[in-house]
Amino acid sequence: MSEQSTTAVACANIALIKYWGNRDDTLRLPANGSISMNLEGLFTRTTVTWREEELALSAAKGGAWKEGNEEDSLIINGLPVRGTAFQRVSDFLDLVRNMAGMEWRAEVVSENNFPAGTGIASSASAFAALALAASIAAGLDLEPAALSRLARRGSGSACRSIPGGFVEWQAGIGDEDSFATSIASPEHWELADCIAVVSAKQKPTGSTEGHSMADTSPLQAGRVADAPRRLDLCRRALLERDFDALAGIVELDSNLMHSVMMTSMPPLFYWQEPTLTLMRLVREWRFGGLPVCYSIDAGPNVHVITEGAAAGRVADLLGAVPGVQKVLVALGGGQARLVK
Ligand code: PMV
Repeated sequence: MSEQSTTAVACANIALIKYWGNRDDTLRLPANGSISMNLEGLFTRTTVTWREEELALSAAKGGAWKEGNEEDSLIINGLPVRGTAFQRVSDFLDLVRNMAGMEWRAEVVSENNFPAGTGIASSASAFAALALAASIAAGLDLEPAALSRLARRGSGSACRSIPGGFVEWQAGIGDEDSFATSIASPEHWELADCIAVVSAKQKPTGSTEGHSMADTSPLQAGRVADAPRRLDLCRRALLERDFDALAGIVELDSNLMHSVMMTSMPPLFYWQEPTLTLMRLVREWRFGGLPVCYSIDAGPNVHVITEGAAAGRVADLLGAVPGVQKVLVALGGGQARLVK
């Protein structure tokens, strides 16, 4: 039986200017561009093995294409996965099969090194690692832009986990020009993300559903219209290593996204009581001279961005706040890569 196997690793990322809402849900073309930082040490490692004979077997049995497709298998952190999560991966594998012009089945074995249930979105690192491993194992040697576009089809933010360091995803006009590129290496500025975990529970509304509700908020159009200005300010703050400028725009952008979420129909409230306490404390610490600012994704946990040298002190401060269950610390991370 012919088989081809590849293993890849990709980091999670935190958006400093966030993407919320799609112009096209199937292609995952974002309503606005975004900027993020890859998170070193928080990664997904994925092995994809394409096998030829299983599908041939299914075809010989008169199996329809979809029946063959269902012979894909997915194991995450040692456990077999079925249902919607499996279907999303299998649909993504269809894209790779189409690009490679092959009909083999895939076995996907994936592990996140960040602790399960810490509320850190794993879809970015997961689909970036899957895009790289699946395409290489299928014999495709995609250019970085094409690989980022492929990852985008699994999860929008995954396109930003393909390049390294500080990354910008251009919204683009269509599928062809909506991909992410690096704007600075991780060494350009040693920033850290100290993640205060206040809830380990699965969020009730995932981001895919959330994106589709964004346009129901009367605030989304204003948020999207102002995005180019925020992207410019954030890009400039990063390139000039200006922490105060970065802090102002990162917090504004996070507040804007949550304003849209809270005013969608039905409304989405991701914050919990400790989230608000942490937002207040982070601002107080900054006004007291500590380089810190907050950013919150589609969940209650608080990402506290700081300079690398202050990360230990910030993690200690966060760990002492009531309601904080644990603190994860990540420096800037590199690009998605193959593992020998
Ligand atoms: O890529 P998705 O569909 O998981 O959406 C990510 C949405 C946010 O994390 C809230 C913002 C972002 O730009 O990462």
